[in-house]
Formats: sequence, structure tokens, C-alpha cells
Amino acid sequence: MARVKIIGEQPLHGAVNISGAKNSALPIMAAMVLLNGESVLKNVPTLTDITTMIRMLRSINILAEQSGGVIRVDNKKQIKHLIPYELVTKMRASFFIAGPILAKAGMVRIPMPGGCAIGSRPVDIHIKGFQALGADVRLEHGFIEIRCKKLKGGHVNFTFPSVGATENIMMASTLAEGVTTITNAAREPEIVDLAALLNKAGAKIRGAGASTITVEGVSGLSGAEHSIIPDRIEAGTMLLAGLITHGKITVNKINPQDISALLSALADTGARLNIKNNSIEALSPGSWNSASLITQPHPGFPTDMQAQMMTYLALASGTSTIRETIFENRFMHTGELQRMGADIRTEERVAIIKGVKKLSGAEVRATDLRAGAALWLAGLAAKGETIIYDIEHIERGYERLTDKLSSLGANIKRLT
Ligand code: UD1
Repeated sequence: MARVKIIGEQPLHGAVNISGAKNSALPIMAAMVLLNGESVLKNVPTLTDITTMIRMLRSINILAEQSGGVIRVDNKKQIKHLIPYELVTKMRASFFIAGPILAKAGMVRIPMPGGCAIGSRPVDIHIKGFQALGADVRLEHGFIEIRCKKLKGGHVNFTFPSVGATENIMMASTLAEGVTTITNAAREPEIVDLAALLNKAGAKIRGAGASTITVEGVSGLSGAEHSIIPDRIEAGTMLLAGLITHGKITVNKINPQDISALLSALADTGARLNIKNNSIEALSPGSWNSASLITQPHPGFPTDMQAQMMTYLALASGTSTIRETIFENRFMHTGELQRMGADIRTEERVAIIKGVKKLSGAEVRATDLRAGAALWLAGLAAKGETIIYDIEHIERGYERLTDKLSSLGANIKRLT
């Protein structure tokens, strides 16, 4: 079990390059099922979830090799339609491969997905989408079996703008017969990135990034080359690391417009931000104001920044509130933050955070990816030594986090 030791209260200074987005790379890798021949993906982060997706592609007969930030894919053989249980239970995003396999092979048999422990996270919206395209869906023995010789374009209206369901249906409908219209689609930047890759490969997708997406089916997709967009959640977490340690850091290689809700929330707390085309410099105001936030689908405040923002607000002047509307069980970090001296109370989906002057180092446990990032920030700001256990959760989503923070002056050591 890996853990990390942090000695807090070291102001962070300097510049850091942000890696490619895991949440964009995963569906784009799943899309490789649809693309015939050779493809090259660039700016792919080296993370355990990416390795899991590579293994998943290989398990269905697609060659995929990562070297640094580049993944080369060769999809020339007949693909299999059965996904191994062991891979799917590791990561919820593995379900994103269902749509592409269904569209390409006319059938997919996939175990019910696993993933982070942040709620039940069902896949009913994906399944209703496949059914709207004419697929027959059966659930048996822990497997979902979806069949349809040739998907037919149709109207898919989501009851909630699920990111994964939008990606799955968008991918599946690229090879459907006729036109598919997805309404109440998710609008996240990762959806726009996936559509850009698919369109390079010959798909006809319009409207990605808006609530209505139209996909005109084509007979096949060819190989393509694509560079993954920067990770907006890593960028936001790094900005908070600079602010919470009373430092001054610049995050480079990012798209500031992808984190506009976070930037406006930070500006409201008094953070000084110098926003340029592809970088942001953040200067800590010394002391900062409280805030009231609600997590919402993009372009609202992202749930994936909720935990990290809570750590920052735990040290604000005054009382803040955060309402979590996306996941029903995403406050597991509050208990651990309280052990470090934070004053946080939760009432169902609302957290009430009374700012304190100082956090103190403690032994804590990361329960999921972003909860772990929140503890990491707390450790950087706290007085004394913090040990975070189970950092494998954090390493699923942050590439070389220890190295990057060390280069900014943090006192951190990874222990195994
Ligand atoms: C993606 C992101 C994740 C982020 C989330 C919300 C990836 C790999 N992961 O996850 O980091 O936190 O978007 O921004 O891109 N839901 C259902 N039924 C479904 C699908 C979803 O009820 O069929 C619910 C979920 O339980 C959850 C909410 O909808 O409460 C949001 O889920 P969704 O947008 O699908 O998130 P993911 O695509 O899994």
C-alpha cells in the first residue's frame, strides 16, 4: 500500500506543465475500436487507468502501445465482443467501450462496471440510449449483453446530461444507419475533444459542446492522429496548491476557458489570477473569502473540483457552503479533513464549512481520486507532517504529482 509524507507550510513557487486529460484520453481510446487501421494519440498521461484501457483494447484484439505520452494503435483484426470481468471492475470508464464494440461487432457482452466509491453510479442512461438506437439489452449473471446487427439512428433524450452516456451514444451512432439526435447531451470539453477525434476519422458529428448533438451515420471510420486536450482538473488542483500554500504559481499548457466556473469562484474568494491564452498565474491573496458553490454539469462548477475546493474553503475567512448535485456520496473527504482540524458539517448533499486559521498534519486515508487530492492540498497547507494512505487512488488521475509538486518547492516523499 503506497503512502505519501508531506511536511506542510512550504509556499509553492514556479511554473508547472499540465498533462493531457485522463477523462478525454479514456473515451478517445475506447473510440479506437471504431477506427480501422493505424492511429496515433498524443499528450496521453501515463496513469494506471490508461494502462487498464490499453489492456482492455488488447483483450479484444486491438494492438495498443504507450511510449511516453504517445499511444500507437493498430486495429486491423476482427474484434472480440467479450470484455474481461477483471478489467471492467477496476474502472467505470471501461463501460465507454460498450458503444463502440456494439456498433462495430453488432454485439457486446460486458460486466457491470466498477470504479470510484462515490455512489452507486448506474448505467441506465447509457442503456436507454442503446435501446433508442434499436439495440436489445439483457442483464444476466452480472453481465450486460447488448445486441443489434445494425444500429439505427434515432432520437436519444437523456434524463440527465451524463458525460459517459453522451460519449457512448455519440460513438455508437457514428456507424448507425441514418441520423441520430442526442438531446440534453453533456457539454463537457472532453465531449468536444472526442467529437474532434471522430470527425478527423470521417464521422459526421455536429453540435458537440452544446446540448443537442447530431450524428449522421457513416459506413466506416479510418485511422487518425490526435492530441488530447489538457487536464482541466489537474490545472485547477495545481492552482489551488499555489493559492493554499500562500505561493505564486503558473500553470502552463492549459485551456483557461475549460475552467471558467472555477476561475470565477476563485476570483470571488480574492485570488489574484493572471489569465493568458494557454496559462494562468495565480497569486495567493494571503487570506481569502468564503464562497457558496453548487456542483453542476459543465459549464457549471465541476464535481471533480468539489473536494479540492472544500480544502481551500476550510481555510477561508467566514462560512462557506457547497451543494453536491452530481453524485450522492461525494463527501467522504470531510471526515478526513476534520481530523486535520477543519470545521465541516454535512447535511445530506450540503457541506457547511467554517473557515479555520490553520490545519494540522495528521494520518489520513484517500477514499477516492478527488477526495485524495483534497487531502494532498490539506497536507501542503497544514502545520507539521501529514501521511496520506492509499495514494493509488490519487495516482489514477494525476500524472507524476509528487514530482510536479516537489519541483514547485513542496516537501513531499512517496513511501511504499
Ligand atoms: C465522468 C467523469 C467523472 C466526473 C463525471 C461528472 C470520466 C472518465 N469520468 O464520469 O470524473 O465526475 O463525469 O462530471 O469522464 N448516472 C446515472 N445513470 C447513468 C449514468 C450516470 O444515474 O446511466 C448518474 C451517476 O450516477 C452520477 C451522475 O449521473 O450521479 C453523473 O454521471 P456521469 O455524468 O455519467 O459521469 P461519468 O461519465 O461516469
